[in-house]
Amino acid sequence: MRAPDFHDLDALLAFISELVDERAEIVRTTKPSRDEEAEWLGRQLAAIEKGNSVALVAEVDGRLVANSDVEQSAPQFPEMSHVGMLGIAVLKNARNVGLGTALMKSLIQLAKQMNLRVVILDTFATNTIAHGLYKKVGFVEVGKIPKGIYRDGSFIDMLRFAIEI
Ligand SMILES: CC(C)(COP(=O)(O)OP(=O)(O)OC[C@H]1O[C@@H](n2cnc3c(N)ncnc32)[C@H](O)[C@@H]1OP(=O)(O)O)[C@@H](O)C(=O)NCCC(=O)NCCS
Repeated sequence: MRAPDFHDLDALLAFISELVDERAEIVRTTKPSRDEEAEWLGRQLAAIEKGNSVALVAEVDGRLVANSDVEQSAPQFPEMSHVGMLGIAVLKNARNVGLGTALMKSLIQLAKQMNLRVVILDTFATNTIAHGLYKKVGFVEVGKIPKGIYRDGSFIDMLRFAIEI
């Protein structure tokens, strides 16, 4: 596990494209162009530099197979500056060997070092594997947005999890 840098651009583009092809339970459903991915990565690295975000990627045999981050959810609002939003994904053939757990635990430590006090995340209500992981590392379910997701002609509830750190 390590922090991302700009050399990861093509690996991150391949990574998100593979998740989109899989139709993983993430909100992104279209592949970004290389320019869009470069713009996103540039913004993320700038936020890390400013102390508004932390991120970890994971590699197996030199291949980037996981990406995760915690970003201050509203850095412009001082009264919410202690709240972070977490995102995580592991490629299919690297799942179930503990990478997700290790990344979540490390991100929580890094979020503490950012002086965050609360970390939140939103997830499809159908993503029970992810829910198990979140609960295992201490998150609790705190809310539900009924029909928060519309996919393939059906509505899916969106669940919010949170942890105090
Ligand atoms: C959710 C996700 C990050 C988990 O990553 P991971 O590296 O597989 O996580 P781990 O290996 O640490 O843990 C997976 C857990 O799920 C459990 N699990 C796996 N398949 C399962 C199944 N079919 N039913 C129940 N539990 C299952 C494993 O047993 C393991 O639990 P344990 O540690 O208690 O044994 C990964 O599945 C993923 O990226 N999915 C696609 C993207 C996504 O859903 N991201 C989250 C969006 S909110």
